[in-house]
Amino acid sequence: MRRPLAIANWKMEMTLSQSAAFVAALRQAAGGLCAAVETVLFPPCTALHAVREALAGSGMELGAQNVSVEPGGAYTGQLSAALLADAGCRWAMLGHWEVRRHLGDDDDMVRRKVRRCLEAGLQPLLLIGPGQDEPGDARQVMEARLARVLGDCRGDQVAGMAFMYEPEGAIGGSEPEPPEAVAAGCRAIRAYLRRAYGDTVAEAVRVVYGGSVTPDAAPRLLASPEVDGLGVGRKGREARSFAAVIRAIAQAKGLA
Ligand code: PGA
Repeated sequence: MRRPLAIANWKMEMTLSQSAAFVAALRQAAGGLCAAVETVLFPPCTALHAVREALAGSGMELGAQNVSVEPGGAYTGQLSAALLADAGCRWAMLGHWEVRRHLGDDDDMVRRKVRRCLEAGLQPLLLIGPGQDEPGDARQVMEARLARVLGDCRGDQVAGMAFMYEPEGAIGGSEPEPPEAVAAGCRAIRAYLRRAYGDTVAEAVRVVYGGSVTPDAAPRLLASPEVDGLGVGRKGREARSFAAVIRAIAQAKGLA
């Protein structure tokens, strides 16, 4: 069975003292579940070191919200995959709609960032979902996006990645996508990976859902075995809410 995954993306929030208080509370509320549910925090870069120290011995992991397309060099204001790995990150989030909209990432940039991550030993968490104004069938849009961002990758590299089905329109709203749409989106990603890389790879990767997830909605979003976990923005900055999401994931998978 795939180990389910819980993701908290803090975006451009959380001071050092808020981060420390969050980790202490999360360890208390959900520390025992992290062997069952792989739990990854994506703090702002300013808090990476502090969160790394606070997580020591917890089994929870650290991720970067973005990486540079460049491997290193004279790029003021950027952070390479190698520097982020050195700071303790195991994962890097690539392709978030906010990075596409505000920082100009496109699928080709995401493809290059995937390469940088693999070179530096970071596991990509690839966000795949249709944009609000993207024409065409959502499934075809996602398949074309997967083909572009994974263009350089071998199957054994893809097997270590995780994917988050996150339609742009579901981010920052009052409700997540309906459970049937969540299951269909996750299923479409895995079906593409099966066609492109075969059964072993498709069965190894984790495919989770993100977009306006709440603890209340979590059990129904996880009802389908297609959904290997959840990614949380706003509710991932509240330790009690995120702990409840982790618990819902463990329960849905029969692990708690
Ligand atoms: P949200 O953010 O949970 O606040 O909608 C989700 C995301 O951006 O991944």
